[in-house]
Amino acid sequence: MPGMRTQVGIVGAGPTGLMLSHLLHLRGIESVVLESRSRDHVEHRLRAGVLEQGSVDLLCRSGVGERLRREGLRHEGIELRFAGESHRVPMTDLTGRAITVYGQQEVVKDLIAARLAAGGSILFEADAVRLDGLDSDSPVVHFRRDGRDEELHCDFVAGCDGFHGVSRGAVPEGVLTTYERAYPFAWLGVLAAAAPAVDELIYANHERGFALYSMRSPEISRLYLQVAPDEDIAAWPDERIWTELRARLETVPGWSLNEGPILEKSITPMRSFVVEPMRWERLFLAGDAVHIVPPTGAKGMNLALADVALLGDAFAAWYDAGRTDLLDSYSATALRRVWRAQHFSWWMTSMLHRLERDDPYETKLQTATLRYVATSEAYARSLSENYVGLPEV
Ligand code: FAD
Ligand code: DHB
Repeated sequence: MPGMRTQVGIVGAGPTGLMLSHLLHLRGIESVVLESRSRDHVEHRLRAGVLEQGSVDLLCRSGVGERLRREGLRHEGIELRFAGESHRVPMTDLTGRAITVYGQQEVVKDLIAARLAAGGSILFEADAVRLDGLDSDSPVVHFRRDGRDEELHCDFVAGCDGFHGVSRGAVPEGVLTTYERAYPFAWLGVLAAAAPAVDELIYANHERGFALYSMRSPEISRLYLQVAPDEDIAAWPDERIWTELRARLETVPGWSLNEGPILEKSITPMRSFVVEPMRWERLFLAGDAVHIVPPTGAKGMNLALADVALLGDAFAAWYDAGRTDLLDSYSATALRRVWRAQHFSWWMTSMLHRLERDDPYETKLQTATLRYVATSEAYARSLSENYVGLPEV
């Protein structure tokens, strides 16, 4: 059976696996990334769009921020719409930091380009099927490529293969504890060829359900609607989507959406999910493979990048000086940020969505919370510092 060898075997070429491979390369550590899908698929998969200040700094500091600096849209506030009111949260005034809107698939394209330009090894359409020897000093990732079984031998395995990957399942039963929460709704996400009608994101709490107005460029809008968890995308022709967006977002006198051709639409289920610990022996789990947040707090990709920033330092300490302390503390350190983001994402989700069809008490609580954000600088600052990302947790 053909085998290859590297120092860190990485499963998954999403933002987590690619960023880890890039950070390891900068520290002189070799890796091979296995990705089950094609390069074209991962470069065009439409997902998150908000980068915290810390994520932008990490991408720029590590040399992959050139296009991000040029094309990313820096935002210094967000707007909340509720009960016919509109309120701007001036995040930068309150925290000194900002967010940048830049599509996840653009981050992925930039990282793939950087890895390939540096001679890095990313094997696309290579499906990891089993991890072996994780409790030895020479683990093996078994994968299938071009209809053949192959092996990747390494010192460590980084499981960066998302929620549906194989890595988490390689940990023996009884080791991991799972914490999770399902939500009784999903998001319908739309990409539209329409100039954004505003400069900042709008998060709207409406009796018909949550809506979010975001963007990707001066010509492209990105919009989301809360829908039922089992909603069929076929039931949402473009006109129905625009009608619903108008109903939930055009709640401020004189304000209207810009409409245009819908380029893409899809439905994403929502969950909160954490498994602990994030390491077993020589397997290190990172990103969506170990934690999922509902997207309302815009934290998914940012948490993934924060995980691998820690892992990069931990592997460097091991390879440079034989130190195990950072590898040993990786899970506990990463989980502090993970749980802060879990709480913030749950809180934003609970404040903004229609949770049950008829629960007027819940609706009153949501309005009271939103008014408190609108009137209390302390509360607005709390939202802001979580949204732009806390440097320390
Ligand atoms: P992923 O991006 O999922 O990457 C994992 C990679 O592993 C994939 O490329 C996959 O093909 C590969 N893989 C899986 N199994 C194997 C295998 N056996 N062998 C080899 N490769 C494998 N966050 C937000 O903040 N806002 C949003 O609007 C938002 N929308 C989202 C929509 C969807 C449909 C999803 C799934 C997530 C969304 N997120 C959003 C979350 C955010 O995109 C994730 O947090 C982020 O993608 C995490 O990156 P990752 O690299 O850990 O996982
Ligand atoms: C986007 C996605 C989010 O989940 C969010 O909270 C804000 C913006 C986006 O895709 O632009």
